[in-house]
Amino acid sequence: MHYSFDIERGNFADAGQASSSVKRLLKQLGVAPPNIKRTVVALFEAEINAIAHAYGGKIDVDIDDGKIVMVVADQGPGIPNLDLAMQEGWSTASPQVREMGYGAGMGLPNIRKNTDELKIDTEVGVGTTVTMTVYFA
Ligand SMILES: Nc1ncnc2c1ncn2[C@@H]1O[C@H](COP(=O)(O)OP(=O)(O)OP(=O)(O)O)[C@@H](O)[C@H]1O
Ligand SMILES: [Mg+2]
Repeated sequence: MHYSFDIERGNFADAGQASSSVKRLLKQLGVAPPNIKRTVVALFEAEINAIAHAYGGKIDVDIDDGKIVMVVADQGPGIPNLDLAMQEGWSTASPQVREMGYGAGMGLPNIRKNTDELKIDTEVGVGTTVTMTVYFA
């Protein structure tokens, strides 16, 4: 099954819609709660990053019997130093983003912890694509 969601530029109010929808879908499919939790945590962090650090984009989700693959692709500044970005506590979040409670520098480390496979393709000045896989077995 394939699903896609738009991530609207700057729309913090609606952030988390994709992860909520995916949560509902996985519940209906009878996926084990710990796997639903891992999936939703990772997708939420990636979704927020596309709004907080980029200009929105698109989410594509593929679910089959044994796994979910989530691709969050944004148009944005890209990530100049991925090693730094993956470090716990490292953040370039703006004061406005911090006021909304984000910017602890924990999103990408959390994505890594909660997924079985993580691939980040990023190009400075173009955008970032985060591909996350969670196995249900
Ligand atoms: N989609 C993205 N586009 C551009 N830069 C990004 C993107 N995602 C992450 N980054 C960069 O990587 C840094 C670390 O991201 P991470 O999600 O770990 O922390 P954060 O978003 O700053 O804070 P938190 O996720 O804890 O609210 C960000 O501050 C930003 O510099
Ligand atoms: Mg983040």
